[in-house]
Amino acid sequence: MAIRTILHYPDPRLREKALPVEAVDARILSLINDMAETMYAAPGVGLAATQIGETVALFIIDIADDDEPSDLRVFINPDIVSKTGKLCFREGCLSFPGITEDVERAAQVTVRALDRDGNPFELTADGLLAVAIQHENDHLLGKLMIDHLGLIKRRIVHRQMSKRDAD
Ligand code: NI
Repeated sequence: MAIRTILHYPDPRLREKALPVEAVDARILSLINDMAETMYAAPGVGLAATQIGETVALFIIDIADDDEPSDLRVFINPDIVSKTGKLCFREGCLSFPGITEDVERAAQVTVRALDRDGNPFELTADGLLAVAIQHENDHLLGKLMIDHLGLIKRRIVHRQMSKRDAD
């Protein structure tokens, strides 16, 4: 296992679209281990493969509280098949360190994906888990938190992040 470098906005690699995983093989399992180690070290509640420069359709989420045992969820080739309701949540992103912004998402989603054993599953989620699934799924499409903001906020965040990288 290894802690990988998390790409920060505006790195253009964050805009790349992930390609489907052909087989859940040793390479993918090793990538999942690296991603988990990287996410827990950050620390964060979600990480998409594209955030460490791997253009494969895979993200992980662990929304367990600090005083709860870890609950790592793996989503390979995810597909959000339904969205209902609206929810506004203050989101952060490991690719936007130090920044949190209110983002509007669907309140409930149903996602289909493969687990780390390569078995298909379907999950209906709401609350923080629904937010995290939509946020991480966006990463696989090359879409970022900043894209959900209004023009003025988007400019401010862009400037903050551009300045941060230049320092
Ligand atoms: Ni993110």
